[in-house]
Amino acid sequence: MYPSSEIYGGLGGIYDYGHLGTLLKHNFENLWRSYFLSLSENFYEIESSLIMPENVFKASGHLENFIDPIVKCSKCGHIERADHLVERTTKTRVAELTPGELTLEIKKHNLVCPLCKSAFEPVTVFNMMFPVQIGVGKQTRAFLRPETAQGPYVNFKTQYELQRKKLPLGLALIGRAYRNEISPRHFTLRQREFTQAELQIFFDPDTIAEHPRFEEIKNIKIRVLLLEDRKDDTVKERTAQELTKLLPKYYIYHLVKIQEFYLEHLKIPPEKFRLYQLSDKEKAFYNKYHFDVEVELNELGFTEVGGLHYRTDHDLAGHQKISGESMEIVHEEKKLTPHVLELSFGVDRNVYALIDNNYENDTQRGNIVLHLPPKLAPLPAAVFPLVKNKPELVEKTKEVYTALKKALPLTFYDDQGSVGRRYARIDEIGIPIAVTVDFDTLNDNAVTLRDRET
Ligand code: GAP
Repeated sequence: MYPSSEIYGGLGGIYDYGHLGTLLKHNFENLWRSYFLSLSENFYEIESSLIMPENVFKASGHLENFIDPIVKCSKCGHIERADHLVERTTKTRVAELTPGELTLEIKKHNLVCPLCKSAFEPVTVFNMMFPVQIGVGKQTRAFLRPETAQGPYVNFKTQYELQRKKLPLGLALIGRAYRNEISPRHFTLRQREFTQAELQIFFDPDTIAEHPRFEEIKNIKIRVLLLEDRKDDTVKERTAQELTKLLPKYYIYHLVKIQEFYLEHLKIPPEKFRLYQLSDKEKAFYNKYHFDVEVELNELGFTEVGGLHYRTDHDLAGHQKISGESMEIVHEEKKLTPHVLELSFGVDRNVYALIDNNYENDTQRGNIVLHLPPKLAPLPAAVFPLVKNKPELVEKTKEVYTALKKALPLTFYDDQGSVGRRYARIDEIGIPIAVTVDFDTLNDNAVTLRDRET
């Protein structure tokens, strides 16, 4: 991963992925897709446009509410994100503070412009969407979508009819989102163009208190950091059943499924995973219940990589109002506007977290090892001849390589340098298995399998 258009100096917060990075990203997306789409037989994947008309964002509330607080230097005009500026100094979360309160915090801590040391003007707000002008002459104003979610919402009525009018209906979408972040930072963690993987589940709001499979998960312990535990800043595991005092079962079921994805499929160590409850002031403007999915990163600590959002009928009701199209359906002889539970993930943040969590400078081996789970490894296996200057050995190795490629097309062949150097090279890019062909192979047709972990 590296800055995009680097030969022109790049653009802040915009990155490209090379071959291995792209493969890792796709492997994450494929794992995400197969796991979350298989949660129900009525979940599907769709694709929708990146450019959407202004009215979509009037309906969703993004025109009015998708704003960040900013401060401008009174002398040189330098702009900073106000909440980040305060957080850097006070080391506390200030997402709840209003622009007025942030102005007071900046005064209280005597924060000045980092460039020219002058005072800041009062905090104001800034809309993060990228406008797009479409056509020539009389132009239509549109926006690059700031989240993939609006695609499934504007497609809801059509998809509901195509998919035989059943609830719950899940519409998943993996694709780009665009935000004019004021201070993009931490590499691919806060970008201006990034990839999201989001699943929108449309359901009958009268059924939120239950989930047909709740019994199966009721005793599972969930790693939550609830508002009431904030003061201790420690995760207190609670069973799904215990959480029913606080949250509806339909919501809890999906907290469990998200945790299962991280612990069992992405293999994030449990102590590095938590579900962080947000307060009323911290929640996104469209949410009734909101937990962030967080993974602990080296140097940065717990970092948001996703979220479970109960968006109620906020979006469908908004689209009904602005478009004039009814979003009501008749479900089990009842007229209703479905509610939405959104499972939202940042693909780039998850890829970053996977690299961060699996990267080890192994002093015993004397090389870097990327301990990625095999399903995520960019390349699945490597094949080496013990030495490359023996034609019969190379020929046999190519035979093994060709056979293995039939099952694992991206198998990697290498005969450069010593075998030790080759092992080090594949450790570094996360290849889990190496197959070495040696002189015995010529006699017994057996190869040496090297498992990276053992
Ligand atoms: N549809 C809901 C939604 O967009 P969000 O919390 O704003 O919710 C979802 O974004 C996820 O997208 C975040 O949890 C994060 O992983 C990722 N994300 C958000 N902004 C990002 C950015 N500027 N750069 C990279 N990833 C970002």
